[in-house]
Amino acid sequence: MATKLIGILTSGGDSPGLNAAIRAVGKAAHSYDIDLIGFLNGFQGLVRDQYVRLDMSRLSGILTIGGTILGTSRDKPHRMPVGEGQEMDMTPMAVDTYRQHHLDCLVCLGGGGTLKNAYRLAQEGLNIITLPKTIDNDVAGTDVTFGFDTAMAIATEAIDRLHTTADSHHRVIIVEIMGHNTGWLTLGAGVAGGADVILIPEIPYRTESVIRALLDRYREGKRFSIVAIAEGATCADECDVEKTDSELLTAGVLLSRAVRKRTNLESRVTVLGHLQRGGTPTGADRLLATRMGTYCAELIRKGESGVMVALQGEECVAIPMEKVAGERKEVPPDHPWIESARLVGTAFGDE
Ligand code: F6P
Repeated sequence: MATKLIGILTSGGDSPGLNAAIRAVGKAAHSYDIDLIGFLNGFQGLVRDQYVRLDMSRLSGILTIGGTILGTSRDKPHRMPVGEGQEMDMTPMAVDTYRQHHLDCLVCLGGGGTLKNAYRLAQEGLNIITLPKTIDNDVAGTDVTFGFDTAMAIATEAIDRLHTTADSHHRVIIVEIMGHNTGWLTLGAGVAGGADVILIPEIPYRTESVIRALLDRYREGKRFSIVAIAEGATCADECDVEKTDSELLTAGVLLSRAVRKRTNLESRVTVLGHLQRGGTPTGADRLLATRMGTYCAELIRKGESGVMVALQGEECVAIPMEKVAGERKEVPPDHPWIESARLVGTAFGDE
């Protein structure tokens, strides 16, 4: 019989590298004689006590696979859906499951929302450690989250491919990139893919400024433009486009209508959507997830909890959850990536 038993779950939007992290926590834990069970579909599995044993054979062959073998959901213990639009506080059930299994620690893999929910459980007296995953890279306290590198590579490749079709048709192609309320993904992929205009939530854009940047390119003899726009980007002016009251326009479609209304330029919108979360994680994400996962197992071996694992510089560190729960890491307007982008002529719609 192993000396300790821990639980693990994945919560929030899936992210490439989750399986690599599960494998890393599990294999390192087993090497310390710690057993592991995996709760299914995020906090749902915890409140309903639905789990699988993660022995060494279940942890094999998953390093390179996208998604999560445990399944995930956005459900929160304190607001669990119980049918017909009803919600219930199931925190006591989550605590019961933890106690019935005599867990020594619960590892929660997720983004900012998961961290907040996990922190609530820690306040109920459970030993919790979180690992930061999200393609959005918006978790405070860590330089980077796993999933971000893969999503950035996918979005960069999309921008590369859009260049040739934009060039052939002399069009403005607006590519809408995920990232929730932050612009890390759009900025990273936009710079790496050489987008001509990058629009992120942290720098609200003015329509006139974007239009001027596009028209300047045509005056310079460029026949096409690529605009990378974050799904959460906002327009500082009214945008002034026609839409019916019932229409919910995405950031990219809104901008495309404004471009069509004010110029003779032909524009098209590509929304990358969930493509950015799917498929094989990059080497960098597998490496990061493996480092964070094994570091987490090491913390558990030492009996530590109440922390989020983070990468700071070259080091994995443990940050008290109360310092980061509820915080969001936004792109600072003077971030070096923005400075570099401006120096190569990229417009941000704010000049
Ligand atoms: O947080 C990851 C993310 O992909 C965001 O970039 C995006 O806004 C959101 O999840 C989409 O959520 P869902 O998968 O629930 O549609």
